[in-house]
Amino acid sequence: MTAYYNEQLALLKREPKTWLITGVAGFIGSNLLEHLLQIDQKVIGLDNFATGYQKNLDEVKATVSPEKWARFDFIQADIRDLADCHQACQGVDYVLHQAALGSVPRSINDPITTNAANITGFLNVLCAARDAKVTSFTYAASSSTYGDHPALPKVEENIGKPLSPYAVTKYVNELYADVFAKSYGFKSVGLRYFNVFGKRQDPNGAYAAVIPKWTAAMIKGDTVDINGDGETSRDFCFIENAVQANILASLANDEAKNEVYNVAVGDRTSLNTLYSSIRDSLSGNNVVFNKEPNYCDFRAGDVRHSQADISKAKELLGYQPEFKINDGIEKAMPWYISNV
Ligand SMILES: NC(=O)c1ccc[n+]([C@@H]2O[C@H](COP(=O)([O-])OP(=O)(O)OC[C@H]3O[C@@H](n4cnc5c(N)ncnc54)[C@H](O)[C@@H]3O)[C@@H](O)[C@H]2O)c1
Repeated sequence: MTAYYNEQLALLKREPKTWLITGVAGFIGSNLLEHLLQIDQKVIGLDNFATGYQKNLDEVKATVSPEKWARFDFIQADIRDLADCHQACQGVDYVLHQAALGSVPRSINDPITTNAANITGFLNVLCAARDAKVTSFTYAASSSTYGDHPALPKVEENIGKPLSPYAVTKYVNELYADVFAKSYGFKSVGLRYFNVFGKRQDPNGAYAAVIPKWTAAMIKGDTVDINGDGETSRDFCFIENAVQANILASLANDEAKNEVYNVAVGDRTSLNTLYSSIRDSLSGNNVVFNKEPNYCDFRAGDVRHSQADISKAKELLGYQPEFKINDGIEKAMPWYISNV
């Protein structure tokens, strides 16, 4: 852990704040909850269980002490309802807005529902946070906003055209955030996550992300499907790096606000390499998997390569990712082995 991040955590521990995490029962939300409770923060969590689970909250409860768990209040509600958002923002210092419907293919199959959660829901939470005069508003943006822009690595100001309805929604979030700074002086921070992974990322269902999906398939001994030739690449980001980015963004000074930041590691890993890394990590945990992958068609809406330039987040937020992809896979593996 870097000295700067450590100092910020110590500061929060000395002077605890009240946080709202939307999407708290999901993958990233529940990991944020766990970290914030561990440093004695008070947390309000909102979720409608569209893709999140009660079991994620139960797991956090089992991980933290009863005193820490007592600092958590859960509101089962929908961000598409403005009144629910107003209620959730009461007395909140820092908002971490994570609730949304993820997945490019889901958005292609059902753009209406994705739009309602990701754009109407976002606007509701943003308005409610502005009205409640919260100190900071940090939201989950996405690397999908780079769309068809060919340059690598991705630098925040150079974006292309979106390649999916999901990417449109995440870009609209950034536009609203910027307009709220201009129109109301309400500044927020957008974190463009690049393929975040780790424990509690859902391995099930048609819209599962690649790491949990493949890990679960290999644990069960099922053949793994690779979309395309396997040379598609991504900048996989372990959850603890994303947690760090959220905490630092929430404490950022005014000059670092009304900005978007890449949240990744700055590396690029092909799907073929990822396949070997997961298989090797399982083998280190005594799960042997020898099947060859099944190469299928490329998936609609996917970008071919993705890799972040993370210098902006390093410079303005003090972000220093601690975990490379293989460190993260090693850390996440025991959870998948016990939960698949
Ligand atoms: N995981 C990634 O790699 C990644 C990459 C880029 C962006 N993001 C963004 O990060 C955020 C969190 O993603 P995640 O991976 O944890 O996904 P997730 O599906 O595990 O979590 C999203 C949570 O939001 C909740 N939610 C959805 N619609 C809601 C609604 N209308 N009202 C209330 N709650 C609602 C879901 O029930 C779920 O618990 C999302 O905004 C996602 O778009 C994630």
